[in-house]
Amino acid sequence: MSGVKHGGDIYSIAREYGFKPEDVLDFSGNINPLGMPESVKRAIIENIDILSKYPDPEYLDLRQAIYEYSGVRPENIIVGNGGTELISLFFKVLNPKSGLILMPTYSEYEREIRINGGRYEYYRLKEERDFVPEVDDIINCIAGHDLLVICNPNNPTGQAIYVEDMDRIVKEAKKRDCFIFVDETYVEFVDDVNSVSSAGLVGRYDNLFIIRGISKFFGTPGLRIGYGLTSSREIINNMLSIKDPWTVSSIAQVAGQAVFRDINYQNVSRKWVKEERAFIHNEICRFTNIKVYDTDANFFLCKILSSHSASALREYLLKYAIDIRDAASFPYLNDKFFRFCVLDRKGNEKLIKLLYDFFQSY
Ligand SMILES: Cc1ncc(COP(=O)(O)O)c(C=O)c1O
Repeated sequence: MSGVKHGGDIYSIAREYGFKPEDVLDFSGNINPLGMPESVKRAIIENIDILSKYPDPEYLDLRQAIYEYSGVRPENIIVGNGGTELISLFFKVLNPKSGLILMPTYSEYEREIRINGGRYEYYRLKEERDFVPEVDDIINCIAGHDLLVICNPNNPTGQAIYVEDMDRIVKEAKKRDCFIFVDETYVEFVDDVNSVSSAGLVGRYDNLFIIRGISKFFGTPGLRIGYGLTSSREIINNMLSIKDPWTVSSIAQVAGQAVFRDINYQNVSRKWVKEERAFIHNEICRFTNIKVYDTDANFFLCKILSSHSASALREYLLKYAIDIRDAASFPYLNDKFFRFCVLDRKGNEKLIKLLYDFFQSY
């Protein structure tokens, strides 16, 4: 059992409400509804016998595929069991004396720093500014901190910091001996990935560590593949020295290579997310009881403006086997906030209709 609550837990819901897990419409997990790419299915079926062997401990072929995909050299890549393993390893190694975490955000950074005995503070993304990151203000707050943690685009607020601004942040941080951790789990959902991703900065700055994975954009959270990008030899070596061997399985190592080379899936997904995000945004904007925040990712943060709570809305939707993320557990948010991701048109229409029924009006 995991002690931490995240979205995407279709199993608990199915058990509690008597559904089959596969019947739950999961708007909480932020996963591409196109599902596992056919190229990955083929790679798994054709290579199934590899399960009788250990994976390559160096993951050379997988790192080569990630290099071709991300442009970051293989020696600057570390692979792990989902982004989750790399978050855990990174914060064990870079145990901050004074971290600064842009909040509200994904809870694992704070949890990992805490369990390793590190110290950190919150930097508040302001609700009154619609959670838009204020880059100059962030830069002004770096002094005195040895680590800055940024999720980009940010979960749950959805907004991204663009690469020119990240460049300024990393450069200023370098002058002040501050390391930057950037979680790019959702970066591929941005219309123009290169305008946001800091992958191109890895070769220029050694105080930058990026994590990414294939769970969300490539619709394969069950494969558990994540990767870290950094030109800091010290960080990679220290992470490898405490990392368990073979945490990416032999079949995942092969399937992962297929995913990064599947250009067609990437193009289709990007076109789809753009269309569905626009559709949902237009629909949600019609609700006078809901404020929706702009997003660069595949999910929306919303605030309920009427007397209803997000937990009551979630309970209502669960009766129809629909799960959204009640965002009350995020620091600086409360029981008025909820997050949901973009699914296929049929699912999106169903959610909009049920929102209408719940609020009884636009
Ligand atoms: C921001 C963020 N980072 C990392 C993860 C973990 O992803 P993975 O499946 O790659 O471990 C999640 C999962 O929800 C996430 O939202």
